[in-house]
Amino acid sequence: MAAENPKDMAALQAAAAAIIAPGRVVEAQEDAQGALFLVIEAPGGGPMPELEQRLRDGLAPLLAGAPLKLAITAHRPAPAAGPAANRPLPPGQAKLEGVRHLIAVAAGKGGVGKSTVAVNLALALAATGWRVGLLDADIYGPSIPTLTGAQAPTGRGPSGKAKPAGAFGLKIMSIGFRAPADAPIVWRAPIVTGALVQMLTEVEWAPLDVLVIDMPPGTGDIQLTLAQRAALSGAVIVSTPQEVALADVRRAVAMFDKVATPILGVVENMAFFVDPVSGNVSHIFGEGGARRLAATIGAPFLGEIPIDPALRAGGDRGRPIMNDAPDAASGRAFRRMASMIRDALEAGYGLKPAPVIVFE
Ligand SMILES: Nc1ncnc2c1ncn2[C@@H]1O[C@H](COP(=O)(O)OP(=O)(O)OP(=O)(O)O)[C@@H](O)[C@H]1O
Ligand SMILES: [Mg+2]
Repeated sequence: MAAENPKDMAALQAAAAAIIAPGRVVEAQEDAQGALFLVIEAPGGGPMPELEQRLRDGLAPLLAGAPLKLAITAHRPAPAAGPAANRPLPPGQAKLEGVRHLIAVAAGKGGVGKSTVAVNLALALAATGWRVGLLDADIYGPSIPTLTGAQAPTGRGPSGKAKPAGAFGLKIMSIGFRAPADAPIVWRAPIVTGALVQMLTEVEWAPLDVLVIDMPPGTGDIQLTLAQRAALSGAVIVSTPQEVALADVRRAVAMFDKVATPILGVVENMAFFVDPVSGNVSHIFGEGGARRLAATIGAPFLGEIPIDPALRAGGDRGRPIMNDAPDAASGRAFRRMASMIRDALEAGYGLKPAPVIVFE
């Protein structure tokens, strides 16, 4: 059992606030499992494990055995303002000549709609007049060729680099153009990383305003390598509305944090379903999880994409909704998201640096 009445919650919150002062308690609530969930903004800079221990020790007598879940954010001083292009690149990072921005579409876990968001966001950005590329970084489960119906490219561009494929005005590259759709891909990590770096550096991407990178699920070495090797302007985190496992998301955010990549925002996919007959709205996968998540990590909330059977069907047929029905509710959501992201990138991303979520 967690705190039994509101008084206990207030006492817990006050005790936590006293322990972490001058940091602050951003949120305190009992979660669905009866655990006490605290979001803390740390005073900054201090050793986090020590702060965690002080909180756990100090609150234990008030918890009556209930689990304590902590999300601790620490806002570091903003990196020098200005576009990503002006940031000093970490060692080993290659800038792509002629590509103004690289953004990653990522998630803590698989199947949340990263690829669907990447394709439709790329098209929505293109609809604003930008020149847009789409790189499928999912080596083991490439889905961009299916989602866009793009055909394998051939030949070389003027600079001698491999020509990307093209569909709906996007430049596209995916390992799926090389591997037959149903052949299992069993590659060792160094080869996978090599293939990714090749798709990044040996493809005729330029000139582009933005290259959207559809990240593979998870946050393993391959994802980290990519985040390290590509000088990313920012990352878009896709989440479903469930009480997302904070640990999964923390890993995704921490991965980008490690390479000083700002989080451009959090998108809630499969947010709700509108019954086409009755117009009733159902929150099939829960409500507001991604919005809370955005607040927790201090990142902008980029909007909700409804569950839309046409979105799935369009993906299966290689006809993205942003192309076929840009005025559908999901299309409008992608356009709003694109305009927020474009504004942020144009403004030198003008957003807070990714906060560090330290532990749970
Ligand atoms: N808003 C939505 N409404 C309806 N179907 C959706 C929506 N978003 C995604 N889907 C469907 O969910 C499935 C998973 O989406 P997608 O492949 O984009 O996820 P992913 O996160 O890229 O998965 P993976 O981790 O395997 O790469 C697809 O069939 C897709 O069409
Ligand atoms: Mg995918």
